[in-house]
Amino acid sequence: MSSPAPPLALIAELTHRCPLACPYCSNPLELASASTELDTATWLRLIDEAAALGVLHLHLTGGEPMARRDLNDIIAHAHARGLYINLITAGVTLDAGRLALLREAGLDHIQLSFQDAEAEGGDHIGGLRGGHARKLAAARLIADSDIALTLNFVVHRANLERLEQMIALAEQLGAQRMEIAHTQYHGWAMRNRAALLPTAAQLDAANATVTQARARLAARLRIDYVVPDYFAEYPKACMGGWARNTLLVDPTGRAMPCHAAHGIPGMDWPRLRETSLGAAWRSAPFERFRGTGWMPEPCRSCERREIDWGGCRCQALALTGHAERTDPVCVKSPDHAMVAALAAAAGNDASATVPVAWQYRSAKPDPTTAR
Ligand code: SF4
Ligand code: FES
Repeated sequence: MSSPAPPLALIAELTHRCPLACPYCSNPLELASASTELDTATWLRLIDEAAALGVLHLHLTGGEPMARRDLNDIIAHAHARGLYINLITAGVTLDAGRLALLREAGLDHIQLSFQDAEAEGGDHIGGLRGGHARKLAAARLIADSDIALTLNFVVHRANLERLEQMIALAEQLGAQRMEIAHTQYHGWAMRNRAALLPTAAQLDAANATVTQARARLAARLRIDYVVPDYFAEYPKACMGGWARNTLLVDPTGRAMPCHAAHGIPGMDWPRLRETSLGAAWRSAPFERFRGTGWMPEPCRSCERREIDWGGCRCQALALTGHAERTDPVCVKSPDHAMVAALAAAAGNDASATVPVAWQYRSAKPDPTTAR
């Protein structure tokens, strides 16, 4: 067996602790407690191994990565190893002093999440009163610094009506880039799917709004737009293809190709307290869906097999009970009818109103054992 090309990006899920409780959180339903998180020395070792492997980008995420007291040490270490460092944060605990320390440590980029364009919706979706105002303050501080800023909006049935205001907010706040991502149905979002799926009218309006905004703002604001899987013809290349260029480490030190792979049965994920990042990248669970050799029909003989790599294994598992099946989002999948039915049911059901009775992500921070 030939060696796989090295990963380009390491996603470090430093913690599952978070002051917010978004109902579409991609963290697992069983959240890791602070006492089970990797310690500082292990993260620093993993950063050394990542740099030696050829990783260029480090994405620090969670939960809320700012809940880690050793965040600056981790950033400084990665900076010294020449990695480009992106912090993915809700921003509600960021103030001028903290930002100055992050900058001094060598942080390159912040991806700041917003739950809505205004406080009422934002606080309701994030489950934190006053959260939206704190995010606005954080965005202004970052925009005034030399750290690059991307604003991230997860959109769904309960906030799509305000998409134009979200774009206006990104403009006003001076972001260089904006990401508008329809909800992906993993983790908590799967549990709340019925309340989050957009209507057909909302989706048409959102597509038109994004097209117009891109034309109007081309020179000032880059807008990345992730369309909702269930309404698409073909799936996305999830994570750029299974174990092709990205490796994720969860708070407890399990190495996986994506944030939802822990749910795939029969996979013995490498534990990085006991093994190296390089060994994990070459391990059997990473090989399982790498490339095209594992593919069933219709993927096996499809001309798109090296474009979308068969879509998302975790979505195939969630919808069909089998991770090895073609992603049912694909029109060629024998299971596509179930996705089409879900999209049609949601698309025609405009009855849901805000506030929505969804189930919030549970488990708030556990400060007593925080690292
Ligand atoms: Fe992609 Fe497989 Fe569908 Fe072809 S059949 S478009 S490879 S998911
Ligand atoms: Fe796991 Fe798509 S989220 S492969």
